[in-house]
Amino acid sequence: FVGCGKQDSNVIVMGTNPTFPPFEDIQGDEIVGFDVEISKLVAEKLGKELKIEDMEFGQLLGAASSGKIDFIAAGMTATEDRAKQVDFSVPYFESKQVIIVAEDNDSITQAEDLEGKKVGVQLGTTGDLFVSGYESDAGATIDVVQFDKGAMAVADLSIGKIDAVVLDEEPAKKIVANYKGVKLVEAPFIEEVYAIAVKKGNAELLNTINEVLNEIQENGTYDALYAEYFGV
Ligand code: ARG
Repeated sequence: FVGCGKQDSNVIVMGTNPTFPPFEDIQGDEIVGFDVEISKLVAEKLGKELKIEDMEFGQLLGAASSGKIDFIAAGMTATEDRAKQVDFSVPYFESKQVIIVAEDNDSITQAEDLEGKKVGVQLGTTGDLFVSGYESDAGATIDVVQFDKGAMAVADLSIGKIDAVVLDEEPAKKIVANYKGVKLVEAPFIEEVYAIAVKKGNAELLNTINEVLNEIQENGTYDALYAEYFGV
């Protein structure tokens, strides 16, 4: 069976959900973005060819655990719960959840204002977990509406079908720019960090990924990519 195992393969498979600009998005028929650039550097370091699997966000953890993909690069927040299923790299990005509302809405300025409102999220994301699990001391909850893509939530918001959307900040900025009549509320309420995930126990790959993440911080590559994708 020598040569049949995945370990021997010349291909490294990254799984992502390209609905999340500028981390991963589809342009033409190509998956592009900040996470793709980092993944290319990981593949290069391993001397392997990078293959990208386009998956539902909610399928990524299972795919990594089962070995269908080698690693996840999907703007994925490193949470304690997820760390039971996969191993996370060192953090590579600091993010937060933000609220998007109609341009003329001045009544939603913080998380509490979402109580009793119809709020769109991307299924299975930390924004979804927050909104779905929200309960005030008085027992008020938020009426969650789950979408496959953040952009679909913002589209529904822009035509008044829902009251607000909760999304990660950088994708929120990009998506809001594509729709009329919506704005970002400057009331970030959950801070998080993104990390790359591998199958539990795959220390070899995790070490290489951490090496790449550390190296690009030191040699200026990270800053160059940051400037390119986040325009600072
Ligand atoms: N950071 C959030 C999370 O981990 C959202 C990530 C969504 N990523 C994506 N590629 N669609 O839940």
